[in-house]
Amino acid sequence: MNLKLLVTAGDGIGPEVTNEAVKVLEEVMALGGHTLALEHKRIGGIAITTDGTPLPADTLAAALASDAVFLGAVGGNEFNALPPDKRPEAGLLAIRSALGGFANLRPAFAFKELAVNSPLRSEIIDGADILFVRELLGGLYFGQPRQWDKAKGEAWNTMRYTRDQVIRIAFSLAQKRRKKLCSVDKANVLEVSQLWRATVIEVAAEFPDVQLEHQYVDAMAMHLMNRPRDFDVVLTENLFGDILSDESGVITGSLGMLPSATIGGKVNLYEPIHGSAPDIAGKGLANPIGAILTGALILRHTAGLEAEAAAIESSVRKVLERGFRTTDLARGNTQGLTVLSTTEMGAKVRETVKQLLAVSSQLLA
Ligand code: IPM
Ligand code: MN
Repeated sequence: MNLKLLVTAGDGIGPEVTNEAVKVLEEVMALGGHTLALEHKRIGGIAITTDGTPLPADTLAAALASDAVFLGAVGGNEFNALPPDKRPEAGLLAIRSALGGFANLRPAFAFKELAVNSPLRSEIIDGADILFVRELLGGLYFGQPRQWDKAKGEAWNTMRYTRDQVIRIAFSLAQKRRKKLCSVDKANVLEVSQLWRATVIEVAAEFPDVQLEHQYVDAMAMHLMNRPRDFDVVLTENLFGDILSDESGVITGSLGMLPSATIGGKVNLYEPIHGSAPDIAGKGLANPIGAILTGALILRHTAGLEAEAAAIESSVRKVLERGFRTTDLARGNTQGLTVLSTTEMGAKVRETVKQLLAVSSQLLA
């Protein structure tokens, strides 16, 4: 298999975490006799500085010509005063829209070893394993009209949905998991949510083996913290999914652990859920695991290399089991733990995945 991957590392900790993830991918692909053709392009704040736009045309062209795009993070404090359409985030939204992936998959699971990092009691989070399916190209992020009329002191955004394909993807993913789907909306207030709920109910008829429930987003924010284990696939619209997936970082113990994959469009887009964290950028403090697990999703959803994807995920688990942590994961009692820098953590995962794959190829031989 030959994978043509465009890396848009972006801002803040983006370059350091994607660098570690790419090294893991290179190792795993080479061991399996596959080739990884890498290209690097600018996006976000760095592109504003050098090219005057957060999504330069050559970045977009390269993205459309690749098998998958691996994005680090965008954003920086120096851009905070800019209007939404001039900010680094506009580059991210523009590439999401151009690549066309509307289903953003955000798996969130509780690692046993990290239970102490969560403010939630371990008996609440142990075994939690949720797949958020966030609609990525609709809702308030893209709805027109949108405007800030400064003279009038009035601003508006539009939450608009048409009947959505993302719903079918969420149901078929639930079929491959524990066959439960929770659709999150605000149908007690919003017409768009009423359309959403009616469509979910209609599509559900095609998936009689999947158990369906509906929750209002406000109640769901609470249920996720009280009883996260009750949920399997959580399907929701763009902004609700943005908020709930950050909240789920509490279940995992750190937002730095969470990967994402966006599918359904022309080219799949992969990005860790965490942001650019400018306060810790360049200090070797960033946790590369979210990016490394995002690399595993590239192998699973674009390259069709399931065994290799699973090997990366097992390696991360093993590294945690053996007591290795990045700084964000080693708060409080660090007895018996070894705190690693960004590159040391990357190297540890690489070393582990190499051993794992060597053992499995010996078993096959
Ligand atoms: C995310 C981020 C983005 C979003 C920002 C950076 C535009 O928060 O991927 O969750 O809101 O979608
Ligand atoms: Mn977010």
